[in-house]
Amino acid sequence: MTEPFSFTVHATDGAARTGTIRTAHGDVATPAFMAVGTAATVKAMQMRDVRETGTDVVLGNTYHLMLRPGAERVAELGGLHKFSNWPHTILTDSGGFQVMSLAKLRKVTEHGVTFQSHIDGSKHVLTPERSMEIQALLGSDIQMQFDECVDLPNGRDEIDRAMRLSLRWAERSKAAFQGGPGQAVFAIVQGGDIADLRVESARALVKMDFPGYAIGGLAVGEPQEVMARMLDVTVPELPSNRPRYLMGVGTPDDLLLSIERGIDMFDCVMPTRAGRHGLAYTRFGRINLKNARHANDPTPLDPESNCPAARDYSRAYLHHLVRSGELLAMTLITWANLAYYQSLMAGARTAIREGRFADYAAEARAGWARERE
Ligand code: GUN
Repeated sequence: MTEPFSFTVHATDGAARTGTIRTAHGDVATPAFMAVGTAATVKAMQMRDVRETGTDVVLGNTYHLMLRPGAERVAELGGLHKFSNWPHTILTDSGGFQVMSLAKLRKVTEHGVTFQSHIDGSKHVLTPERSMEIQALLGSDIQMQFDECVDLPNGRDEIDRAMRLSLRWAERSKAAFQGGPGQAVFAIVQGGDIADLRVESARALVKMDFPGYAIGGLAVGEPQEVMARMLDVTVPELPSNRPRYLMGVGTPDDLLLSIERGIDMFDCVMPTRAGRHGLAYTRFGRINLKNARHANDPTPLDPESNCPAARDYSRAYLHHLVRSGELLAMTLITWANLAYYQSLMAGARTAIREGRFADYAAEARAGWARERE
């Protein structure tokens, strides 16, 4: 018998907490960084190695998977876990965000969003009901409500409209959710950079009683202090016994700042996308391996890392691979980046348990100052 979806907080340190989310496909240690696996792959990586970095959750995207290879096809092939060879927890985003950033000729109505595929121009409709149906076909453990996220900066009226539409879509998403034991649907707080709209959105969603709450519509062009202020007003509105997920964030510094404010889950393309562009995230800071100063450097990215990519290859070799456009550059640097993000999170969990998160964050920040790209 699959156990029900649950979240248990083990320890807190100020607003920061560490806990366990239990899903149908295993436990997730929080604070958690989820690897982005948009098209049923964490780009350039094998799932075995993704797991080795300490990743508990891979994120899939409704928008991409509905267009290619199609949700019905994935379901016929046994679901997303089997299809992608990731037997652990999967979270899927609802498509609300990607349809706004990627699709062509979008039209948003009360019913949903009509759009043209960015792949072949074909016409599609996403509604809260269809998004939840697709996420059920994929079989993901944590499914996101269908929402509308607006760019920042934006006017109050537009932010207000999208926030209220997202509240109505939250009701419809919850009603359409077909999950079984160990699966859950999360709400998404919207409201842009306007504090009272954030509070209103959070309160209305909490009344609907979701098993988890995401904060969306951030890291869309606003300064870091705006994001921090939105967390300061939003997090206190959310129940302490439910996981809180900050969507699409962020840099290592964004993660620490958000954990400090009570966030439990993150996802971001940063470590994987940067890895495909020759940028390494390490405990010494960000390193641009394209830079000529690495051409003769025999040292690895981090001799003390337990990740083979960070430990067993010289910066000179990685520089050579990047400069030569070799595929292995993408694999190794993505792998090292994910491993660094996961070690930062593992360290945060330990520090929270030991009541020294502020010192841990300060030490991590001091370490980043040691590199200059
Ligand atoms: N990913 C990053 N931000 C968002 C958001 O606001 N909504 C959704 N659905 N996904 C996101």
